[in-house]
Amino acid sequence: MFMKKIVITGGAGFIGSNFIRYVLKKKNYSIINIDHLLLSGSRENIKEFTNEKNYRFIKGDIRDFDFLLKFFKKEKDIFGVINFAAQSHVDRSIISPKDFIDTNILGVFNLLEIFRNGLFKRFLQISTDEVYGDLKIDSKKKFKEDSPLKPNSPYSSSKASADLISLSYNKTYNLDIVITRSSNNFGPYQFPEKLIPLTILKALKNEKIPIYGDGKNVRDWLYVEDNVRAILNVFEHGKSGNVYNIGGDNEISNIKLVKMILKILDKDERLITFVKDRPSHDRKYSLDSSKIKRELKHRNIFKFYPTLKKTVEWYKENIRWVEKCIDEDFKKYYQKNYKERLDEEN
Ligand SMILES: NC(=O)c1ccc[n+]([C@@H]2O[C@H](COP(=O)([O-])OP(=O)(O)OC[C@H]3O[C@@H](n4cnc5c(N)ncnc54)[C@H](O)[C@@H]3O)[C@@H](O)[C@H]2O)c1
Repeated sequence: MFMKKIVITGGAGFIGSNFIRYVLKKKNYSIINIDHLLLSGSRENIKEFTNEKNYRFIKGDIRDFDFLLKFFKKEKDIFGVINFAAQSHVDRSIISPKDFIDTNILGVFNLLEIFRNGLFKRFLQISTDEVYGDLKIDSKKKFKEDSPLKPNSPYSSSKASADLISLSYNKTYNLDIVITRSSNNFGPYQFPEKLIPLTILKALKNEKIPIYGDGKNVRDWLYVEDNVRAILNVFEHGKSGNVYNIGGDNEISNIKLVKMILKILDKDERLITFVKDRPSHDRKYSLDSSKIKRELKHRNIFKFYPTLKKTVEWYKENIRWVEKCIDEDFKKYYQKNYKERLDEEN
């Protein structure tokens, strides 16, 4: 059977590795995963694919144009690229914004330039609902694909920049480009600096769980497998030049979510510690996903509570994976971001 060859960038990270796991099961693509293995990207996340015959891993950096050019020229028959590679954590973008500009904007620009050289045929840029900015806590509004972009953090503004550059390449050079903007994902293999895995990790160790501000900030949670199903659908059927929102229709405040996790783990709510808020902390996100439902017939198939429970179980069973994530870099970051905030509370 003829298999289209595609490149997944950032496939050793959370969503990328879940995407590869899903696509390899479907057996209609041959995948080359390019990842620089930075922070959240890990060989542990992809080791189960090592012996798959339709899969290859290449350690590489999307910031390095010469590497990309050499690679794509050598491979020749690549059909498309799905770009998951990014610096993905808002808190880190506040600590060191330059890394975000370099990978999330200039890295995407490099991929687009490779595209402009005619070295592949379709590009999907993975973006985020955070590009729309935030809503008031009591707002009933939902962001649509044509809502104005009003990002508030270095992370979300770098992602919005990449969206705009990608769309300009679609219009100017007539390149086949689509974009997905999803809400907050959760599920296995998410690096334990993000809210859900961090809460599970701290709770399992009976350590303080830091919650920013009053904890009432609202996020729309999407199970990662529903996101990867939607991404594949957009890659295969999305209309060139279009953006597709992918929401979970599960809007929950951080504090309520953390309490749910503690209940699942049968842990004491007194572990919760409110700490000084993140600067410019987005209050609420809410996505209108009617376009992908209407045009691409996408439906989420996973329910929130059972998949949250499944996720908690996964972290309990894979505590060795979590421990491996907690390297020197993680400790430095945690110390810088939370330790002082937690100390202030004492
Ligand atoms: N996690 C979410 O809730 C969420 C929501 C919406 C959108 N997104 C977007 O989805 C994508 C994937 O997010 P994630 O949560 O899986 O992130 P992640 O941090 O787990 O994974 C990112 C991957 O990119 C790799 N990477 C970083 N810089 C690189 C570079 N210069 N060259 C090559 N590889 C590099 C990392 O090694 C890592 O494997 C990102 O573009 C992110 O903006 C994430």
